[in-house]
Amino acid sequence: MAYIKVPFDSQLGHRSQCRSSPRCIVLAFIVSFLAFNLFAFHTFKSQSGNDFYLSADSGKSLPPSWFDTATERTRGYRASPDWQGQWFRWRALNPNKIEQQTDDLTRFDIVYTWVNGSDPLFQTMRLESQRSSPIFQKSLHEDAKKIDTTTKRRYRDMDELRYSLRSTIDNASRFFRRIHIVTAEVATNKPQIPSWFVQKPNSPIRIVSHNTIFSNQSHLPSYNSLAIESQFMNIPGLTDIFMYMNDDFFLGLELLPSDLWTPLYGYVLHMEASLLVPPTIRSFDPNAITVGEWHSLQYSNYLLSQRFGPRHRAYIAHVVHVLSVPMLKEIQSEWPDDLELTSAHQFRGEGQGKDIHVSFFMAHYIMEKLRETQLESFWQYRLDRNQDGILDWDERRKIIDIINIWNVNQDQDTADRRQHSRPTMIHAHKATLNRIGIRMSGSTTYRQSGLDGYPYMLKNADTSKTIPVVTTKDNNGKDQPPQLPYKSYEQPKDRRCKFDVDFCLGPDFIDSTYPRIPVEQAKQIFSRVAFNEFHCGDCLLEILMQDPYRGGMGAWLPEDETSEAFASVVNKVARYNYVLGTSDYSFMALQGAKGAKKDLDILLEKQDHKAFFTINDDFPDDPVVENEIQTIFKEFLDTRFPVASPYEAVE
Ligand SMILES: *[C@@H]1O[C@H](CO)[C@@H](O)[C@H](O)[C@H]1NC(C)=O
Ligand SMILES: *[C@@H]1O[C@H](CO)[C@@H](O)[C@H](O)[C@H]1NC(C)=O
Ligand SMILES: *[C@@H]1O[C@H](CO)[C@@H](O)[C@H](O)[C@H]1NC(C)=O
Repeated sequence: MAYIKVPFDSQLGHRSQCRSSPRCIVLAFIVSFLAFNLFAFHTFKSQSGNDFYLSADSGKSLPPSWFDTATERTRGYRASPDWQGQWFRWRALNPNKIEQQTDDLTRFDIVYTWVNGSDPLFQTMRLESQRSSPIFQKSLHEDAKKIDTTTKRRYRDMDELRYSLRSTIDNASRFFRRIHIVTAEVATNKPQIPSWFVQKPNSPIRIVSHNTIFSNQSHLPSYNSLAIESQFMNIPGLTDIFMYMNDDFFLGLELLPSDLWTPLYGYVLHMEASLLVPPTIRSFDPNAITVGEWHSLQYSNYLLSQRFGPRHRAYIAHVVHVLSVPMLKEIQSEWPDDLELTSAHQFRGEGQGKDIHVSFFMAHYIMEKLRETQLESFWQYRLDRNQDGILDWDERRKIIDIINIWNVNQDQDTADRRQHSRPTMIHAHKATLNRIGIRMSGSTTYRQSGLDGYPYMLKNADTSKTIPVVTTKDNNGKDQPPQLPYKSYEQPKDRRCKFDVDFCLGPDFIDSTYPRIPVEQAKQIFSRVAFNEFHCGDCLLEILMQDPYRGGMGAWLPEDETSEAFASVVNKVARYNYVLGTSDYSFMALQGAKGAKKDLDILLEKQDHKAFFTINDDFPDDPVVENEIQTIFKEFLDTRFPVASPYEAVE
C-alpha cells in the first residue's frame, strides 16, 4: 500500500476546532487508541535493508478509512487513531491522518518562578521562617549574621524578570499561550507583583501565588525552589506540556514548540552526559546553611535507581526545561511521600536535602519508561509467544539464538560487521515535521531518539558481572570515575555491546532441560535483565533495535497491528516518546566586576547565534562589588533587550 506523498498544500485549507484549543493535541496523546482495531496494513516481508520511511508494500488498495476522514479530521489527532501505530511501527506518515498543523496550533505555557527578595515584607517573613527552621538553629546561635548575608544574596532581585520576559515575548511569540509567574504571598491574598507590571485585559501573563498551587497549605511560606516546583502540576489552567524558566534565563533566538515537544518525536530533553549524577544519597553536613542542587539530584537518582536500576544518570542541562502535568502526576502517584516531603521542606537543606528535583526526575523518568515499555513489550508479546506467562524452552531458545548470532557479529572487525540499514527514528526529521506543518527554529538540534535505544548505555560494559554502584578507588586511593556512557548523539551503528546470556538471563533460562519457567520466576528474570543489571537490558534493547537480521521496532512491538496489545503499547510509546537535543547555550556567573564586563561584552558580540543563556548573579556579598556588577549588568540588559514589553508600565 502506498503512503501517498499527498501534496501537502492540498490539506492546508480545512479548519480545525483544535486550532482554538491547543491542548487537544496533548489530550489526543492519551485517547488516541480507543478505536485502533482497524486494518492490517502491512505484511513486512524483507527482514533487512528496507528504507521504512515512506516505504510501502505495493499492490494493495488503500483501506477505506484513508478516505473516510473528512469529518474526523476536524477533530485533529483524536480522529487519527492509527497514525501513531503506523508512525512508530513503520516510520510511515499518512498526512491525511495527522492534523495539518501550523505553528500556532500547538502552543505551550511558560512558568516562571520569581520572588522579590528586596521587598522588606518578604525579608521579614523570611527571617521569621528561618527562626523556626531546623537548619538554621545552630548557626542562629553562633553566627546569625552569616545566615542573613547568604540568604539575602540568594534572594537578591536584579530586575532580571523584566528582561527575561522581554526576551520571551520577543522570541517565543509563536511558542507560548500563557505565561504564569509563580510568586510568594507577602500577606493574605497579596502575592508579590513586579513593580513594573501592568495587567491588561486579555493579557497572557498571570500572577499565581504559592498559596494557589500548594496542596498542603501548612508548608507555606516556602523558600525552597524544589518545593515550589513539586507543586507545578497544580497551576490552574496550565497546558499539559509547559516550559519552566527561571528569571535568569534568557532567549537569544527564536523558540518554537518543536524546541519543546512534537507529536512525532515527543519531548525534547537537554542533558549533559559529561556530568553524571551518582545513584547514592549524598552525605549531608548538618552545619551547612546553604545546600546546592546536588543533594536533590542524587536523592532523585537514588529513587530512580531503586525503581529502574542503580546507574549514574546524566545531569540535566540548564537549558529549555520541558515539564508535563500528566508526567508529574504519574510521578506523584508513584512517589507520593517523597513529593510531599519535598513540598514540606521550607528551605533547601531541610530533611537532609532529600528533595525531588522535578526537572531531572521527570526527564529520566520519561527515558526509563520508554525503555521499560520497549523491553516489557518484547518480553510479554514477543518472547512469550503464546502469552501464557510461562517461558518454555522453545520460546527461550529463539532469543538465545538471536543473541548468539549478535555476539558473533559484534566480534567482527568494523568492515566485516553486518549493520542494520534501517534509518534511525530521527532520520530526516526536519523534512518529516515540515510535511505536517511543524517548523524547527534552529535553536535546538535533535540528536537521538529514545526509540533507537537507550542513549546512555555504557561503553564497553561488561555484561558478565554487576556494575559497581559506588565509585571505586584506584591503587593510589583516588576515586575512579564511574563507567562512562556513550555520548548521547553517538549513531546507533557505532554503539557496541555484547550480551552475556549466562549472567544476564541466569542458569534456568538457558537450560534446555528446564522446560518451563513459571510466571513469578519469569518476572524476576525480567527485573534482573531490565533493571538490576541494567547494562544487560540496554544491550538487549540494542539487539532488538539494531540487529542486522531482524532489528527495528518490529522486534519488540506486538506483531498483530490490529490487536489491543499493539494499541496499548503504541499508546505508551507516544506517552513517553522523546529525543535528546542540544542548543547553543552559555551559563555565566557574574563574579568580579572586570570579568563580568568582559563576559557580557562577548555575549553581546555573539548576539546572533547564542540561542539561550543564563546569567547567575550569585556574586560575593560586598556592597562595592555588588554596586559595580549591578551597574554593568543593568547596562548589558538594557543594551541586549532594549524594547519594553507591552506589559511594562511606562516610566
Ligand atoms: C522589589 O521590592 C523593592 C522594595 O520594595 C522595590 O523597590 C522594587 O521595585 C521591587 N522590584 C520589583 C521588580 O518589583
Ligand atoms: C500537611 O503537612 C503537614 C506537615 O508536613 C502534615 O503534618 C499534614 O499531615 C499534612 N496534611 C495533609 C492533609 O496531608
Ligand atoms: C530574538 O531573535 C532574533 C533572531 O531571531 C534576535 O536578533 C533578537 O535579538 C532576539 N530578541 C531578543 C530580545 O533577544
